[in-house]
Amino acid sequence: MLKGIIPYTHHLLKTSIQEGDIVIDATCGNGNDTLLLASIVGETGHVYAFDIQEQAITTTKALLAEHNYKHVTYIQDSHANLNTYVPIEQKGKIGGVVFNLGYLPRSDKQIITTSESTIPAIKIALDYVEKGHLVILVIYYGHEGGTAEKDAVLSFTKNLDQKQYNVLQYQFINQKNHPPFIIAIEKR
Ligand SMILES: C[S@@+](CC[C@H](N)C(=O)[O-])C[C@H]1O[C@@H](n2cnc3c(N)ncnc32)[C@H](O)[C@@H]1O
Repeated sequence: MLKGIIPYTHHLLKTSIQEGDIVIDATCGNGNDTLLLASIVGETGHVYAFDIQEQAITTTKALLAEHNYKHVTYIQDSHANLNTYVPIEQKGKIGGVVFNLGYLPRSDKQIITTSESTIPAIKIALDYVEKGHLVILVIYYGHEGGTAEKDAVLSFTKNLDQKQYNVLQYQFINQKNHPPFIIAIEKR
């Protein structure tokens, strides 16, 4: 009955985002979320897909090409530079943003997201997202360096002003071995 972390993330994305929206995948990795976003927004919408690794951008491009989706901009750079690529006119109009924190599955475990860029990127994402829409963080933290990022992200999000944001934590608290969890931030 309870949705797992990925199905619940996708449920939240479908709740936040509509056809025609402009949206952001802040960590495209193997492209699974980018694919979902592209299918929800359709050709009248647009997806910005960020990742620092060439391999992630190549894999995501190939996956989206398989589905013949062309309404995606691929950016091999840090999500902390999001405002360099997403036009300023989109500030306050983005339908939803998703971050998957951690390392690229089946790849170099040393290349991880870190709070030094994740926190500034979340702040920019919160500026860009439309009121009533979501910035979703899926937090994997079982790897080396993961706990420091998790703690920084929790501390930052717990202290967001409740008059401006609703912040939800979704987690299976009886699972062993660092189960991933979701922080969903709704801009009010
Ligand atoms: C957990 S994986 C993403 C999984 C992806 N959503 C999927 O469906 O496969 C995290 C990704 O974040 C990327 N990354 C690390 N630091 C980054 C940064 N500063 N900006 C953008 N991407 C970053 C990594 O290269 C990695 O591909």
